[in-house]
Amino acid sequence: MVKKFPNLCKPIKIGNVYYRNRMFGAPMGGTDITSDCTIGRASTAFYELRAKGGAATVTVSELVVHPETEGSHMFHLDLKTVGALSSFTYTADAIRRHGAIPSVELSHSGQYAGTYLTDKDKKGSLNQWGPSDGVRPDGLPVKALTKDLIKDIVKSYGTAAEIAKRAGFEMVMVHGGHGWLINQFLSPYFNKRTDEYGGSLENRVRFAQEVLDSIREAVGPGFPIEFRFSGSELFEGGYDLTEGVEIAKLLESRIDLLHVSAGTYQRGFRITHPSMFLPHGNNVYLAAEIKKHVNVPVATVGALNDPEMMEEIIASGKADIVEMARALLADPELPKKVMANKEEDIIHCLRCFTCMAERAMTSTRRCTVNPLIGRELDGTEIHPVANPKKVLIVGGGPGGLQAALTAAKRGHQVTLCEKADQLGGILVSEQALSFKQEMYQLGCTLGKLVKDAGVDIRLNTTVDKDYVEAFNADAVILSVGSEPIVPPLKGLDGEQVIIVNDYYRKKDKVEDSVVVLGGGLAGCEAAIHLAMEGKKVQLVEMRAELAPDANIRHRPILLEEIKKQNITVHNECKGVEVTKEGVICEDTQGNKTLIEGKTVICALGQRPRRDVVDALIDAAPYVATIGDCVKASTITTAVYQGHHAALDI
Ligand SMILES: Cc1cc2nc3c(=O)[nH]c(=O)nc-3n(C[C@H](O)[C@H](O)[C@H](O)COP(=O)(O)O)c2cc1C
Repeated sequence: MVKKFPNLCKPIKIGNVYYRNRMFGAPMGGTDITSDCTIGRASTAFYELRAKGGAATVTVSELVVHPETEGSHMFHLDLKTVGALSSFTYTADAIRRHGAIPSVELSHSGQYAGTYLTDKDKKGSLNQWGPSDGVRPDGLPVKALTKDLIKDIVKSYGTAAEIAKRAGFEMVMVHGGHGWLINQFLSPYFNKRTDEYGGSLENRVRFAQEVLDSIREAVGPGFPIEFRFSGSELFEGGYDLTEGVEIAKLLESRIDLLHVSAGTYQRGFRITHPSMFLPHGNNVYLAAEIKKHVNVPVATVGALNDPEMMEEIIASGKADIVEMARALLADPELPKKVMANKEEDIIHCLRCFTCMAERAMTSTRRCTVNPLIGRELDGTEIHPVANPKKVLIVGGGPGGLQAALTAAKRGHQVTLCEKADQLGGILVSEQALSFKQEMYQLGCTLGKLVKDAGVDIRLNTTVDKDYVEAFNADAVILSVGSEPIVPPLKGLDGEQVIIVNDYYRKKDKVEDSVVVLGGGLAGCEAAIHLAMEGKKVQLVEMRAELAPDANIRHRPILLEEIKKQNITVHNECKGVEVTKEGVICEDTQGNKTLIEGKTVICALGQRPRRDVVDALIDAAPYVATIGDCVKASTITTAVYQGHHAALDI
């Protein structure tokens, strides 16, 4: 078979191990971390799904090598905790049986111990150890590691690697980046030691070298050691790319694969995990520069999901391997689809951060576009039903499309009616926002998959009760979405007012100065986009804070972007009248001011299309309502509910 992406699909040998392609699974932590140090069954299934999807490696993360000085994570691989070994063995098996190489990330958070604890109060009772004495940004004291402790930690890396190998892992990844312990030693910002572990670069690299020597001694020659580090720390006082190159040169003889990431978790989260406001592959330049100076294979990571871009990265010699985290949550089958020349079927990550936000908020993993993530144990295969039914889906937004896809995969006879002239629902309006192209694309890709699955798609079709009864459906899924809230505010029906959902159709009418009325997520994102387009933007929000509906990972990045784009924000400010000059607003004291803008974008929220639901709720023997028409919510909810409504038929 002639591959469209020959470089991405080409096997590679690292150490003594053959990898089936160049698409590696970057580490992501599982969820059911048990207090007796085992990988829970849900996490094993979480890792297995990506192995099944064709990635060359799947990396189990968060293996704490020295709990005595860490305790930031609940579990660790340790001979003393008998259960841990079997759980790691079963996990390695689950990855290996699908042809992927199981790898495990060896980690120590150093002075950031406790970062991942759900119960943040427990942080205070841990000892935070780093290269040097100090105080963390959250006020917790950091103690400098003694030489004895350093020796002990170095040894523990070897011990953990040896046990991992025994458990069936065929590779280890040493976490030397993102601000954790090894990074702290490498960094002039954290490392103020005056002994042989601090000062010159040669001294700061010593700890990493000793760790790698300890691991090599434990696993023997030929066993691949991947070293993950930040090519540059990307903050004032940290090391830069020039030093990153030198670090790579000082370590390369001890490793088999150099994995170049970027920045640190605490001071550049949005670069380490590139946000939707950054271009794809924004960190590739770091790997590309380092690759010029080393002889070991180099991997790059960060916002990679486009096969063409990834193929070019390898073809042009910027890196030998691409690693993906979020892209493989969104579509674990991405590598399989690339290998089969089916790149058009890939569902792309939206970079919405639901995956990381849910972990922090609910200790679960969830992905907006993939209803299976975090629920893999519930079953990842969709089995055909014994008695196919006649199914009518009303509404072609993300929930309806997902419902149609799942129902069709089960063998039902599915018809999807959409009243507009294209599929996608609310996602259609995202096409005008440069940083939300993938959200728009989601509607297009799901539309393609639904069509390929044999669904009868009827556009420009409004469904009423007569339609459903004449159709004679066994099951109906109502996914009719929500509509914008437009309160009866004087002047809000003016020519110069554009409802945010209509912006994509009316963008040419937007003047140079704009007032965005409503500082929820949609209003904030519209304001950012307009400011990026060079407009003078003022954002008016009644509440004291912006975007309370944004998730806890996306929100700080969004707020940072609002600042960066010089958007003037008026909080606790209520629009009372729209005029040709702008919006007259009232503050909490009742004072009125005119906030000037020739165009007004109305972004005051969405309400469920309850009237449509009420009209159709008893139109068939089985009627399910999903997504925004139940409660205006997120794409995550719509997709998840759509999938499950289809499974329930
Ligand atoms: C849900 C999630 C969990 C992660 N957990 C880890 C981890 O435990 N260890 C680690 O080194 N990186 C972790 N990362 C960072 C990723 O490995 C990767 O470097 C980062 O997400 C950028 O890649 P991406 O743009 O392909 O997602 C995590 C990322 C995500 C999205």
